[in-house]
Amino acid sequence: MRKFSAALIYVFSSCFYFSPRLCVSVAKLSTMKKSSILLIDDDDSLRRVMEFNLTEAGHRVETAESGEEGLRLFEKGAFDAVISDITMPGMSGMEVLAKVRERDAAVPVVMITAYGTIESAVEAMKQGAFDYITKPFNRDELRLTLERAIRMQRLEKENVELRAEVTDRYRFDSIVGVSEPVREVLEMAGRVAASDATVLITGERGTGKELLAKGIHFNSSRADGPFVAINCAAIPETLLESELFGYVKGAFTGAARDKAGKFELAEGGTILLDEIGDLRIDLQAKILRVLQERTVDRVGGAKAVPVDVRVIASTNRDIEHAIAEGKFRDDLYDRINVVGLRMPPLRERREDIPLLVNYFLKKFNKDSSTSIEPEALAALRSYGWPGNVRELESVMERASVLKRGNAVTLADLPDKLKKEKSGVENIILNLPDEGIALEELEKSLIVKALEKHKGNQTRAAEYLGITRPTLIYRMEKFGLK
Ligand SMILES: Nc1ncnc2c1ncn2[C@@H]1O[C@H](COP(=O)(O)OP(=O)(O)OP(=O)(O)O)[C@@H](O)[C@H]1O
Ligand SMILES: [Mg+2]
Repeated sequence: MRKFSAALIYVFSSCFYFSPRLCVSVAKLSTMKKSSILLIDDDDSLRRVMEFNLTEAGHRVETAESGEEGLRLFEKGAFDAVISDITMPGMSGMEVLAKVRERDAAVPVVMITAYGTIESAVEAMKQGAFDYITKPFNRDELRLTLERAIRMQRLEKENVELRAEVTDRYRFDSIVGVSEPVREVLEMAGRVAASDATVLITGERGTGKELLAKGIHFNSSRADGPFVAINCAAIPETLLESELFGYVKGAFTGAARDKAGKFELAEGGTILLDEIGDLRIDLQAKILRVLQERTVDRVGGAKAVPVDVRVIASTNRDIEHAIAEGKFRDDLYDRINVVGLRMPPLRERREDIPLLVNYFLKKFNKDSSTSIEPEALAALRSYGWPGNVRELESVMERASVLKRGNAVTLADLPDKLKKEKSGVENIILNLPDEGIALEELEKSLIVKALEKHKGNQTRAAEYLGITRPTLIYRMEKFGLK
């Protein structure tokens, strides 16, 4: 009888269907994507009225007259929302709620409660129901509640997808390259990502060291934690210690309050110590201590703060060379170089150039049909790329701005690339029958390049397609002054 009268009130109130306020909400509903709703109620007349109204609003409705039947339907179909009465003979609405959430926690469940049983509604909310409606309710209330539930669920889903997309950008597949050296380094990185091992990434400037570090982080169990990068070469030496380890109030003039350092900010995640090769020797000792003790000492602080952080270090310097010169601690090197990964320079993997060119064309051009002329691509392929992928990226960005038509032409590339056309092929080499010493040849090329550029190392290095530190290193190796 109680249920019957509730149904009557429901039908009666739906007579206000054409009131202006309700018309608005109905109009809003009609713009909503058709949803699939599972309706469970043992009250025949109320169930039919609800089914009628929801169907009329454009939803696809399946009905069940018991909890058991409802669950069977739920298992077979894909529903955007479930609405269930709480009080039913046999399986109760609360049990339905528990089972539905067990199978798919994302589907919102709306409970129907009778007037006076508000406690059970509260309990249902605690158990994860999205909302409840109290009998008697009108058709608008029912629809609006369901609409809100479905909309929230969609937003939640979009959020999850968005988050996945953000993470995806840093998955290894965002590192473009199919060449053997890249495949090798990615394969190794994939394996170390799963561990907590400290990794040292070496490679020339612009080779993608930071990109690789992010890839390792987002493929590790720490992916939900922070990724914090600090460039040891870019921060003034006097600030670096407090940036890394934080400080306590009064530690120095201007330290008005306690401040956490980058290590603490990376708690639960990964810290990238970028350009570690440039780190002052006294700070190297402090980093070593962090790696050994897994604690940091804030500047001016009395007690060590424990940190749970994975360390990745990167450098474009030749650290072994720095060790030999007494500029880098060998014990720190051993600690950070548990796994060493080397990002190959672009000139060692020219087959990746067309792929990267395409990738950057897409990145810098909204029009997906933008292409590149073969002549321009050939120039890009034969250039030395001392600045590696970063340099290629900026060349492609510039060309995308300069290009007149739909394709990048040779004219859109910087002059330094066009000169390269008369490159290696034009060197006439007479190879003697008795063989040559490659090192001798390299040495003489370096000497010739230096002569050509009147001893200017930067320009000679650029001419040879190597970095200045590499040139200096080679010059020292060959005993050239
Ligand atoms: N394989 C790649 N695929 C796509 N983009 C790349 C790749 N390698 C590098 N890049 C891009 O090139 C730029 C330089 O990369 P990144 O900053 O990771 O290099 P780096 O080695 O840390 O450079 P630096 O030594 O100058 O700090 C970034 O914009 C990065 O997104
Ligand atoms: Mg970097």
